[in-house]
Amino acid sequence: MTAVVSFVAVLVVFVLAASLLIFQAITGVPPMSSSSSEAADVISLLKEADLPEQAIVYDLGCGWGALVIALARAFPDARIRGIELSPLPYWVARWRTRKMPNVYLQRGNLYALDLRDAQAVITYLIIKTMPKLADFLDRMLKSGTPVVSLTFWFRQRQVAATRDGPGLRGAVALYYWPARSSQNDGA
Ligand SMILES: C[S@@+](CC[C@H](N)C(=O)[O-])C[C@H]1O[C@@H](n2cnc3c(N)ncnc32)[C@H](O)[C@@H]1O
Repeated sequence: MTAVVSFVAVLVVFVLAASLLIFQAITGVPPMSSSSSEAADVISLLKEADLPEQAIVYDLGCGWGALVIALARAFPDARIRGIELSPLPYWVARWRTRKMPNVYLQRGNLYALDLRDAQAVITYLIIKTMPKLADFLDRMLKSGTPVVSLTFWFRQRQVAATRDGPGLRGAVALYYWPARSSQNDGA
């Protein structure tokens, strides 16, 4: 009996670890959470962006829920929406936010989302994904929508404000989409 329980436990751990690796291979992005200082910088930039009271804010690739939780606490009247493709982080995030009425999470590919109602967007992906993400945001967002990106920035888009944070971690940048300067209108 003990051997069966141990075998099942090992199998479950193996399947969960394999699922993390498989989805990381599919997206190319590790499910790494924002630190508390990164979350504080995102919040400070969103305050600077002066969001409307019940703003709809998307975390594109919400991972284990660290950032959506920080956002939901900082903006209790806002509607925080997260999407995550990888099942394990998604279900952990769902469990962690189960008592947060202003958080709505869904599992799926962020590029299949309809973002036309977004009043702010947060993203923490990797450098390789940024051009595709920029094209997607170009198609989806209303002009002037605040977009905050952690660590990896959009090329040829004008940054409106930044927070460098402590230590060696990456900086956080705020854009007002599409954030094209007159020199790179076609970018
Ligand atoms: C670096 S983590 C950031 C997690 C969270 N935003 C935070 O700051 O704590 C990026 C997450 O995006 C997810 N992701 C990457 N590409 C995705 C896609 N196309 N659709 C949905 N989720 C995606 C990854 O699975 C990963 O969990």
